[in-house]
This record gives sequence, structure tokens and C-alpha cells, in this order.
Amino acid sequence: MECVVQGIIETKHVEALEILLQGLCGVHRDSLRIHELCLKSVPNLGLVSSEVRLLCDLEQPEPTWTVRHIGGAMRGAGAEQISVLVRTMAESKVSKNALRLFYALGYKLDHELLRVGFAFQFNSGAPMTVTVSSVNKMLKLHATDEAVPVTPGIQLVEVTAPASSENYTEVAAAMKSFCEYLAPLLHLSKPGVSTGVVPTAAAAAASLMSDGGGTTL
Ligand SMILES: *[C@@H]1O[C@H](CO)[C@@H](O)[C@H](O)[C@H]1NC(C)=O
Repeated sequence: MECVVQGIIETKHVEALEILLQGLCGVHRDSLRIHELCLKSVPNLGLVSSEVRLLCDLEQPEPTWTVRHIGGAMRGAGAEQISVLVRTMAESKVSKNALRLFYALGYKLDHELLRVGFAFQFNSGAPMTVTVSSVNKMLKLHATDEAVPVTPGIQLVEVTAPASSENYTEVAAAMKSFCEYLAPLLHLSKPGVSTGVVPTAAAAAASLMSDGGGTTL
């Protein structure tokens, strides 16, 4: 399982967010350039359709592919009360001919994206990853060199943390308190709950840029 929250930030404030994250996490950022292929199976003979994502970080010296399946979100009163989404997630390394395998299994390419940005991996009450990226679409099939932004001027911020049925409340609480540090710059909430940019972002960014981000956890 994993806990996840998402938000958006204007590209002009991303540098300030990076300074803040650098100070909070105390680690260096990893650059990302992730080619993502979203595949959907065609439902037939009583099989429900399923969706998998093939991901490849082109920034790595030797890019390798990963397959990720995101399952359903946890439901019920307990899940409603916590401010992060808890969902099942399965991930595995795959060989680079995985796309052909999924085509043979009856999956079809739904869309492909290129996410360009950076991530911080750190521990703040729980191991977490913050990813900041611009989402781009390809004008031609697999043409990652000719990608154009889906939402120009806006980047996606995602915080994820591995969790289990035993510890998700603890992980969610740790994630919630981490998100409070970012609140002046952006609002993070469950995926699908769009909250837009925060009005304090410009002032918070200006102050971070002038003091170089002194905050540490
Ligand atoms: C919660 O459980 C997951 C899965 O076992 C583990 O990776 C993570 O480190 C745990 N988090 C905490 C805060 O114990």
C-alpha cells in the first residue's frame, strides 16, 4: 500500500519550492525524466478492464523499465477521516520488451507522458518521496524529444510513502505534518480533489528566495 497526496504549483515558484524541500529534507534532489506509457486491457469475457503503467527514467545512465499497477483506494469511515489517500500499489522491474508482452496480453496504449522534474527521498516520521514535475505529452508516438507541456506554467507535486495495513495511520499523520511545512507554497490533498494554487505562494516564494530557505525539520 501507499499513502499519497497531490497538488499543483506555478512553474515560477518551483525554484522556491526546491529550496524549501532541500532545507527540509537535507538531501540532494534526483533529476527525473520519466517516460510513462499507460496501458489498458480491453474488457472481454467477464474480465474487468485493468490499467498498468510502464515507466522508464530516461535520466538514469542505463534506463530500466518498471511496471506499476495502482489499485483501488481504501474506503470506509476511517479512510474518509484521514487527509491522505491510501491505496494499493504493486510495482516490479520489467525487461525492455515489456510493451510487446502487454500488447500480446491484449493491452492497448491509452496515452503516454513524459514527466520532467526532480524528486527528494527522505525520512520525516516515515520514508517519503516528493516529486515535482511538469507533465508533457508526445506529439508523435514515443517521441520523447518532441514533448510539449500538458499544462504550461503549472507543475504537479506528489508526495508518496509506502504503508501497510498496520501502519497507514502513522504514515498518514507523518505525511500530513510534512505537508504543513509546504502549505504557504502549495496545498496538497487527495488525488482528484483539485484545490488550485494557493494565494500566499508568491509572497512565500519571495521570502524563501531571499533567505535561502533556513528551515530544517
Ligand atoms: C510502513 O510500512 C511500510 C511497508 O511495510 C514500510 O515500507 C514503511 O517504512 C512503514 N512506515 C513506518 C513509518 O513505519
